[in-house]
Amino acid sequence: MTRPISQRAHRVPASAIRKLYPLARAAEARGTTVLYLNIGQPDVWSPATAGEAMRGYDQPLIAYTQSQGTAEYVETLRAYYASYGAALDAAHINVTTGASEGLLFAMLTALDPGDEIIIPEPFYTNYASIGVMAGVRVVPITTRFEDGYHLPPAAELAAAITPRTKALLLCNPSNPTGVVYRKDEIDAVIDLCKAHDLWLFMDEVYREFVFPDAPDTYRTLLTRDDLRDRLVVFDSTSKRFSMCGARVGCVVSRHDELMAAILRLASARLSPPRLGQLVARAAHADPEAYLAASVEEYLRRRDVVYAALTATPGVRVSRPEGAFYTMVRLPVDSAERFAKWLLTDFAADGETVMVAPGPGFYATEGLGHDEVRIAYVLDVDRLRRAMDHLAAALDAYPGATR
Ligand SMILES: Cc1ncc(COP(=O)(O)O)c(C=O)c1O
Repeated sequence: MTRPISQRAHRVPASAIRKLYPLARAAEARGTTVLYLNIGQPDVWSPATAGEAMRGYDQPLIAYTQSQGTAEYVETLRAYYASYGAALDAAHINVTTGASEGLLFAMLTALDPGDEIIIPEPFYTNYASIGVMAGVRVVPITTRFEDGYHLPPAAELAAAITPRTKALLLCNPSNPTGVVYRKDEIDAVIDLCKAHDLWLFMDEVYREFVFPDAPDTYRTLLTRDDLRDRLVVFDSTSKRFSMCGARVGCVVSRHDELMAAILRLASARLSPPRLGQLVARAAHADPEAYLAASVEEYLRRRDVVYAALTATPGVRVSRPEGAFYTMVRLPVDSAERFAKWLLTDFAADGETVMVAPGPGFYATEGLGHDEVRIAYVLDVDRLRRAMDHLAAALDAYPGATR
């Protein structure tokens, strides 16, 4: 018998997105080109200034930075938030290794083991893994395809609150649904958090990715003085500047005691990446121009994907309002089997498509079995081909239900 590992380790789910990779590699080994729509790894180029900064690094040493992040990058972030009308002190910001580390730090510092956090599902899969790491119970609130994945009435959210509930998390715009929450929906959540004295965790990593036809929303809640004691915001350069590999994000709150605790945790891991912060700072050279072009590109892609999917018999899709994802209902017996079959048995013109099966985005057992998430992170030509392949695959799939 081998030495047992921890119970906690067993409970961390395998990434729903990454677990089909061995099948994708086998398809590639057979000579099939895989069009990857399964993961939010954008192909839009990072700002040129980021690459220039990297090439210009001429120090003889790559040292740690302060645990909070470099003073220069924190200043850059303050200016960035100020451009949204949010006045922050430097101490309100802690640079992290991606938003992922910020989420872990916040769960560890705001909640105790066994406490509950309410999250609308389908949700970003790693919330569940990070919850397990922190010993926090993720309580899902199901949002429905029929409602365009908008939030259920406040009473339904309130019904999920127990004495152990300490926080509510919203991701706006949302991965994986592409929903942009209306101001009134967010206001209802804020009221609920106030009424039940909950932390409000806002994952705003897709802040700028809001399409012109999206409902009016809050780009950030950091402008709100009434939330200074309960709001924690997670942010990242990964998607904003197409810099997933820089591994730079931050956690932001005006709750002084929370930020002091987060700094203690940050000190225990010593430092966020120095080179990542260098390039992240450089990426902020002209964010408006870069982001306008980038959002325009994602809008073009959204339109291609949405038009193709709505024209595919048996497929149902709600039009994404932001981010670069959409949840799609497919006429199949099992989204998981279909996603595997695409990689093991299907090819058209030497290509196939990789999608993320729906169940991985739900905490409620049994949901998402006819859904997949599509990340439109390929250029328009490849997306068009991918959508054609998906339609052909649905015609050929033995488990099709239409
Ligand atoms: C909603 C959401 N939050 C957080 C993250 C993590 O981002 P990072 O690369 O900054 O750790 C992602 C990455 O896909 C995401 O989609």
